[in-house]
Amino acid sequence: MGKQVKRIGVLTGGGDCPGLNAVIRAVVKTAIRQYNLEVVGIIDGFHGLVNDIMQPLNEANVAGIVHRGGTILGTTNRDNPFRYAVEKDGQLTFEDRSSQCIANLAARGIDALVVIGGDGSLHIANAFYQQGVPVVWVPKTIDNDLSATDLTFGFDSAVTTATEAIDKLHTTAESHHRVMFLEVMGRYAGWIALHSGMAGGADVILIPEIPFRIPNICAHIQARAERGRKFSIVVVAEGAQEAGGEMVVQKMVAQSHDPVRLGGVAQVVARKVEDQAGMETRVTVLGHLQRGGSPTAFDRILSTRYGSAAVDAVMAGWFGRMVALRTPDIVPVPLVEAIGTLKKVDPDGQVVRAARAVGIAFGD
Ligand code: F6P
Repeated sequence: MGKQVKRIGVLTGGGDCPGLNAVIRAVVKTAIRQYNLEVVGIIDGFHGLVNDIMQPLNEANVAGIVHRGGTILGTTNRDNPFRYAVEKDGQLTFEDRSSQCIANLAARGIDALVVIGGDGSLHIANAFYQQGVPVVWVPKTIDNDLSATDLTFGFDSAVTTATEAIDKLHTTAESHHRVMFLEVMGRYAGWIALHSGMAGGADVILIPEIPFRIPNICAHIQARAERGRKFSIVVVAEGAQEAGGEMVVQKMVAQSHDPVRLGGVAQVVARKVEDQAGMETRVTVLGHLQRGGSPTAFDRILSTRYGSAAVDAVMAGWFGRMVALRTPDIVPVPLVEAIGTLKKVDPDGQVVRAARAVGIAFGD
């Protein structure tokens, strides 16, 4: 029988995404209303845990935030307590500050921790759990690349933003008879590109799971032009790669759990297509717009369910678990099940088959 939980801590880690505030709100309200707990918000993710920057949270703090993007707690995708970046004599060195975090939790009387985060936060949460910290994790990322859950919150909002962008590109593409490229996020998975491309009626979708060839893309858009459709929309996942080629890296962020920042592939492909197909191209990189703004209704509901279920899991003593969507339920799943395997698009799956069936090309 574990210690009775009276006070919980909550933090948001990794890149922000729409729905974080709705999760925080649900955690706080469920904790107070259902279990009479106290809640402490940890500021700026694991940075606040290392440096003991925390504040009590009550219902007033979380009033009116279900529809607001971002996170009222702040976040960072750089600070890993087990490999904490410290600058010494102008040099970046890394130190293990995990015991400081555990001491901070004890000093604040925090009995259990709810971590809302993506892949990087998952590894950190699991490492703390291995050290005896009672942790429950809520899966967040616009990329939707976490296994063991049907969906992460934030994904639907990002897809909606990308779809709206495609809708806008359509009208200008058609007017100018151009090939419009839209680069979307998603890291090593093509979920955002695939879903927004299908929803927006894209002609070509390029994703990391299906390596593409430039001549195939050209053939598809030229065939459209011959049929009188003199414009095309190409949605490119930032991790898409040419067959035999490599992902295009924009920059490296040394302190990050995954230091690689992808970006720029659409520009590279557009230039080649313009040269080889002889059609005018333009490129839009949607970037962080996909992480900003209000969550969709779907994400607000999913986030609320996750936040509430996370507190239920804490009170049931289900530590070292994530709350996962197994439609139609939210269930606690061991963190180890979520670690290690990225959830990628199945190139032979029904979604891709449906896209091909309606004439979308993948450049393969
Ligand atoms: O994981 C979410 C994500 O938005 C990815 O889609 C993208 O590659 C990355 O984070 C961008 O990170 P940053 O905010 O550090 O530029």
